[in-house]
Amino acid sequence: MKIEIRKLEKRDNRKDFRSGEIEIDRFFIKFAGQNQFKHKIGKTYVAVDVETQTIVGYVTVSVSSMNIDSLEIEELKKLPNYPLPIVRIARLGVDEHFQAKGIGKKLVQKILYLALEIEALVGCVGIFVDAKDSAVPFYEKYAFVVAPVIDGELEVKPAQILMYLSMKTIHKLLK
Ligand SMILES: CC(C)(COP(=O)(O)OP(=O)(O)OC[C@H]1O[C@@H](n2cnc3c(N)ncnc32)[C@H](O)[C@@H]1OP(=O)(O)O)[C@@H](O)C(=O)NCCC(=O)NCCS
Repeated sequence: MKIEIRKLEKRDNRKDFRSGEIEIDRFFIKFAGQNQFKHKIGKTYVAVDVETQTIVGYVTVSVSSMNIDSLEIEELKKLPNYPLPIVRIARLGVDEHFQAKGIGKKLVQKILYLALEIEALVGCVGIFVDAKDSAVPFYEKYAFVVAPVIDGELEVKPAQILMYLSMKTIHKLLK
């Protein structure tokens, strides 16, 4: 099966997507479209079977800002003490029939290249993701690191485990 990664299109069939995580499926089916086409507040990249155009995975990203000072990240300590631009992975999921075939990896790689473009265009500290416990080892494979939040510092606490990948590491990975 040949896979391509491209932006979500209005005509794509999202309703049959099942990753095994209800919240990941619900977001894709109900909100990914309106966030991209109506509100224009995020973009979803889909992994599709080139022949059938069946969606086998997706990742939704947006630009955001974060007060890095609220995190215990030695590597980013020298950055200024005000909200700084970041890329945020909002959701990532692979259909359960297509898991463990390298599709999640392809979707993460897409976002690394996207972060390079955003850094070149407007500047960016790195990629952040609120990861579920079970997905932490997956992100660690791509050099994401857990970012401990200093108690009481971040206005909106991450619901799950906040992880990040700095631009410095992204440059090293893609060299
Ligand atoms: C987590 C998820 C996105 C991984 O996608 P995938 O396509 O199955 O992963 P890949 O086949 O690309 O795996 C890439 C590597 O990560 C590893 N991996 C995949 N899922 C993993 C997990 N949960 N924990 C540890 N390693 C994992 C694979 O073994 C593989 O390693 P290798 O390159 O050494 O062989 C997918 O399982 C999924 O959609 N899960 C349900 C939703 C979810 O948890 N999303 C994350 C939200 S935070």
